[in-house]
Amino acid sequence: MAFFSSKKVEEIKSAADIVDVIGEFVSLQQAGKNMKGLCPFHNEKTPSFFVSKERQIFNCFGCGEKGNVIQFISKYKRIEYHEAIQFLADKYGIEPDRKDSIKKNDSVEKLYRINELAKQFFSLQLLNLESGNDALNYLKSRGFDEQILSYFEIGFAPKSGNQLWENLAKNFHDYELVEAGLIGKNQSEYYDIFRNKVMFPIRDETGKTVGFSGRIFNNEENTAKYVNSTQTEVFTKSELLYNLDKAIPFINQNKRLVLMEGFFDVMSAYKADIKEAVCSMGTALTVQHANLIKRYTDNVVICYDGDEAGIKAAYKALILLGQVGLDTKVALLPEKLDPDDYIKKYSKESFRNVLKNNLYDQYDFVYEMIVSRKDLTKPAEIEKAKLALFEYLDKVASSTIREIYLKKFSNDTKVDYQDILADYHNFQLENRRRQSINQRKVAMTKAQTEVRLTKKNVEAATDKLLNYYALYEEARTLIRNKLDLIRIDNHRKKQLLMTLTQLLADGSPLNEMMVKADFSEITEEELQLLRKTPSSYYNEIEVIDCIETLILNRYEHEYEKNLLLQDDPNLPIEEKNKAVFKIMEIRKNINNIREKRHVKKTNSHR
Ligand code: UTP
Ligand code: MN
Repeated sequence: MAFFSSKKVEEIKSAADIVDVIGEFVSLQQAGKNMKGLCPFHNEKTPSFFVSKERQIFNCFGCGEKGNVIQFISKYKRIEYHEAIQFLADKYGIEPDRKDSIKKNDSVEKLYRINELAKQFFSLQLLNLESGNDALNYLKSRGFDEQILSYFEIGFAPKSGNQLWENLAKNFHDYELVEAGLIGKNQSEYYDIFRNKVMFPIRDETGKTVGFSGRIFNNEENTAKYVNSTQTEVFTKSELLYNLDKAIPFINQNKRLVLMEGFFDVMSAYKADIKEAVCSMGTALTVQHANLIKRYTDNVVICYDGDEAGIKAAYKALILLGQVGLDTKVALLPEKLDPDDYIKKYSKESFRNVLKNNLYDQYDFVYEMIVSRKDLTKPAEIEKAKLALFEYLDKVASSTIREIYLKKFSNDTKVDYQDILADYHNFQLENRRRQSINQRKVAMTKAQTEVRLTKKNVEAATDKLLNYYALYEEARTLIRNKLDLIRIDNHRKKQLLMTLTQLLADGSPLNEMMVKADFSEITEEELQLLRKTPSSYYNEIEVIDCIETLILNRYEHEYEKNLLLQDDPNLPIEEKNKAVFKIMEIRKNINNIREKRHVKKTNSHR
């Protein structure tokens, strides 16, 4: 959907003269300062529809319809307000501020180009310029030569303030560089965000550079070891796997992916001829990562750091990868080493061997993790290990696997198998009970805030409401009081209700002839809505129910509208805040009505 700012809308209004626009649809004659004609919104024989050139509004003294030129088009053509704006903009050749789809692609392509050029800039600094010497020596001292640095496109971000900016500002707007997460702004000065860092370009799975991670290299204190690009339209850390694009052919060849924690681990593994390795830039693996992996292979080997944090993270990753159906094994490195350290301390061959012959399958790994660091001669430790094991086994589907590990546990602890089994069954029961309570809670809150009205609900309520209005004076009073709060989506039926409110204003009974005269081209179907049926009788609860449904309908529309406003990047912040407050208010209103109805329903079921 194209976006028009309020300034643009004003521009459209002054271009689209209301007399010209309406003149195309209604024949207008001069009447004093104004123009008048037969109202297009109700049936009439003498003109009561006025258009003011001076004030740029229309007003019908017969049916009460009034508004500006956009509202006229919206009503006349039965289209939404924003569609009416688009219609008039097209007619008068006015461009929107933003054509969504086109603009988006443009800005994404720009981000790719900026990142690509930045990568080239950093690489040049490291490998070809003197300023990168310290960083290059650091990398060489860690065992990475020029060849491998070029393969991974490693670079260096110079120390001095704004060289990257000077380089890129020739070709891009400053705001684009800021948007790419590479340049910051300090009052009126632009500066490079990455300074004096070893630079790891992060590419997406198609090989496009989308962001960077920069590492300190001279033991600077009080700064984080790594700094990553901020989130941009193309860089979301939780959805990217470092080196995946280059690993894909090797993943296919070796029928597995090796998952690591860090950049240096992946680079060292490559040197050891493990080229199917990727890393998740830290340990937090996400379900997006898991699904990304699943696109390329079903087999994963987790090779995280051998320290406590790495083992815990491996456990979490194992569960997550299992949930998307990946078959996962774990390589446990000794002495708290990470892959990079391990290869250095032992050898490439030894590392290759771990990844080939020394893998734990998922169950053995978890069992090992739960049991190996506990003293199984102490009852309290046994109890802790037991609960951890139960918790895990409860997530594992197969009962064969459960039996195997419960027996193993019985063996290792010398506790009778039958006793352990009995405990396990109690644990399961208790777990199910907790789960069902939680589910019920979740279902309750969902029912209150998330179930939306269907089109059918709204239509049925509209039809009933019309019928009650036509037939019962008591209903008319109730409905008239809420007329400003309800929303009827069907334009004809909305107009029909308006006609009825005018015809029946004085309490007289309905006269079909009058409706026919006042409501243009009324159909048999529409007339049927106003007639008594054999089962008609006045039911106040039902009237109120219809009114509430249509009030909810209005709130739901406003809710949607404000959600869009809240996310509109072109809206000033005060307007966004207004939308946020509106959303909270509407949600409260919706919940109030839903709760009220919920109580009524449960009472009437008794
Ligand atoms: P490590 O702290 O294990 O770093 O973090 P490393 O890769 O082994 O680096 P060296 O060997 O100490 O130089 C593992 C990974 O976690 C991410 C990086 O991707 C890193 O490679 N990380 C770590 C961050 O994103 N930010 C941090 O502050 C630290
Ligand atoms: Mn590490």
